[in-house]
This record gives sequence, structure tokens and C-alpha cells, in this order.
Amino acid sequence: MPRNTTVRDYIRTIVDFPKEGIMFRDVTTLFADPRGFRMAVDQMLHPYAGEQIDKVVGLEARGFILGGAIAHQLSVGFVPIRKKGKLPGTTISQDYKLEYGEAIVEIHDDAIQPGEKILVVGDLLATGGTAAAGIKLIERLGGEIISCAFIIDLPDLGGRKILEELGMDVHALCAFEGD
Ligand code: PRP
Repeated sequence: MPRNTTVRDYIRTIVDFPKEGIMFRDVTTLFADPRGFRMAVDQMLHPYAGEQIDKVVGLEARGFILGGAIAHQLSVGFVPIRKKGKLPGTTISQDYKLEYGEAIVEIHDDAIQPGEKILVVGDLLATGGTAAAGIKLIERLGGEIISCAFIIDLPDLGGRKILEELGMDVHALCAFEGD
């Protein structure tokens, strides 16, 4: 069997999940492959070689898998941003809009110290709502965001522009557009 040569090659597309008309970009096939997972982690880290990063913040849920591996590689701590009600300690919250309704994400209020340099990690950038809410939480705690790193960008949904308007440096390993 030929080996995949890019991160994008390892991503499986599931048609009509979770509802009709959605092309779900499934990174579990990337994570399950030893070359694919290493390639993704290495490439996500590549832009930051030589830069100071104090903590990695992961966006629920697949950002935990990536963020844990990236934090370990950098020998820095990992901090989760979780959906409402999951974190046990004192938290701060941020709401954001979904297609229908609202969602809330939270971070422990002592997870980041003012001035710490933060790398934000997620699997996929779509509308940018989740990442923008996470960015606001980190900035409310005084963190200085170095960059936001994703595996997949869906440019048709405009998330990159939203994050760039917030002053963010944004990196994604690949894009899916036009479908
Ligand atoms: C996906 C993805 C991001 C978010 C991005 O998560 O993992 O967290 O959507 O979308 P946005 O840019 O429009 O905010 P999903 O909503 O599938 O939740 P899950 O991580 O719990 O599966």
C-alpha cells in the first residue's frame, strides 16, 4: 500500500455527518497512524522553532490530543479550554454563537499567569467561534498569545479572518474548500 505523503492524505471525509449536507473531516484516521500523527505534531510545531512558549492551551476535544503531544514535545505545561461545566475548579467563562443558539467555554482562573506566552491548539478552524472565545479567555487571564495552530482550515467559513481581526497569527496544515 502506498504511504500517504501529506497530513491531508490521512484525513478521512465522512459525508452527511453529523447531519445531511455536512462533509465531516475526520482526524481520527490521522491520529491512528504512527507516521500521520508524528507528521501532524512536527508540522504544527515547525513555525515556532526557537520561539519562547510557556504553555500550550488546547481546545476541546481533539485539541487535547494534539495539545498534549505538542506540550510534551516543548516540555511545557498544557491547559484545557473546556465546554461549560466540565472543569472542577474556579473558572471564567466565555459565550459564543453557534449556527443555532449559543455555547460556553471555560478555563480555570489560575491556569495562566499574566505575561505567559501561549500557543493555542485545535484540530479544525471553521467559523472561528470556538477559538475566538478561547482567545478571549486567555487574554482575560493576561496570557500573551503567540499563535493559533490547527490541522485543518475551512476557508469558506471565514474563521481565519475572524482570528486575524483579533490580531492573531494563524497556522493551519491544510485546507478543505469548495464543498
Ligand atoms: C469542532 C472542532 C472545533 C470546532 C471548530 O468541534 O473540533 O473545536 O468545531 O468550529 P468553529 O471554528 O466553527 O468554532 P465540535 O463542535 O465538532 O465539537 P467536539 O470537539 O466536541 O467534537
